[in-house]
Amino acid sequence: MQATDISLDFSIKSHIFYLNHAAVSPWPTVTAHEVQKFANENAQLGATHYIQWLKIEQELRENITQLINAPSCDDIALVKNTSEALSFVAYGLSWEAGDNVVIAQQEFPSNRIVWQSLKAQGVEIKLIDLYESSQKSPEDKLIAAIDSKTRLLSVSSVQYADGLKMDLKTLGDYCHNASVLFCVDAIQSIGAINFDVQSIQADFVMADGHKWLMSPEGLGFFYCHKRLRSQIKPSQYGWHMVENQFDFDSSTWSEAKTARKFECGSPNMLGIHALNTSIKLILSRKIEFIEHLLVKNSRYIVKKLKTVPQITVQSDTTDTRISGIVAFRHHSISSETLYNELMAQNVICAMRHGNVRFSPHYYTSTEVIDGAIEILNKVIKTTIQL
Ligand SMILES: Cc1ncc(COP(=O)(O)O)c(C=O)c1O
Repeated sequence: MQATDISLDFSIKSHIFYLNHAAVSPWPTVTAHEVQKFANENAQLGATHYIQWLKIEQELRENITQLINAPSCDDIALVKNTSEALSFVAYGLSWEAGDNVVIAQQEFPSNRIVWQSLKAQGVEIKLIDLYESSQKSPEDKLIAAIDSKTRLLSVSSVQYADGLKMDLKTLGDYCHNASVLFCVDAIQSIGAINFDVQSIQADFVMADGHKWLMSPEGLGFFYCHKRLRSQIKPSQYGWHMVENQFDFDSSTWSEAKTARKFECGSPNMLGIHALNTSIKLILSRKIEFIEHLLVKNSRYIVKKLKTVPQITVQSDTTDTRISGIVAFRHHSISSETLYNELMAQNVICAMRHGNVRFSPHYYTSTEVIDGAIEILNKVIKTTIQL
């Protein structure tokens, strides 16, 4: 695959320096076309071809299964977002007072609040500082917090603020041996980095489509290990989550045997068409190749940032930790000022944990990165002169 082909995957305007895929990604051109096509079809034919739409829904489940190497598409539920899937786990398990859940202090609120909300049921939350100064690795810090009362460890595959890539295999192996449930919020890596639910021995994995999967907000997926499917009681009920979902006349019902039991009502068909198109693009490009190009882009950003006076890269960019997120700050100019000025000049980025955060994707060109760094240099010069 040539780099020139990849640049054609997106139609983002040339005056936009888009470095914010860890927040919300632009849609690939094919995805935008699919949404337009689906809109036209709905306007002109309504749901005449609903059977065909159901086939696309099934295709999406199969494509997600392939992307994360799940054993079966029966393990995949289509959900609104990551938070909803995390809530399914938290409110589907039965807890005993005194149980505890281990999470990192630095987690995105979705992967903290839901666990803290279990306090009313007597569940203790152990918040572990991944960066507390000690010789231990972030994984060892989490593992050290696990005790005989720990039911579950929930972690992001990549930390949202600085891009720290977690060693999920180490965590999964430990949890498996200690009979602790292993839950992975994978929104910051699926679509960006190769991900294998089986090799990391994950029990639950969830991700939304609007970041590295390059799709609209409002549709994500939830992987639930087959062994645990019956142990997670649904917290939402409706026609769609029963075994015979099209048998509207029956007065009896049972939960679907597959992960569809977590899908209470009508599917998000528009989102399904979009997400399926984006994932098909990812699969056609190959996730290993996407990861290779993305890491190359992150490294290039780091290299360029090192040429900018008074900027320090805050992310761990060593080989095993680097991801699609690079966080940095200036020694004297506040990150808020830098962020506001960059945004005003179309460098689309984010500010997280007091750092400016750049997140390219695989298709981001060196010209876009060079342009963003040039603007950063200008912003710094002008701010210092003021
Ligand atoms: C690690 C992580 N989890 C979850 C979310 C958001 O999840 P949701 O799909 O519920 O909006 C984000 C968004 O930034 C995130 O970075």
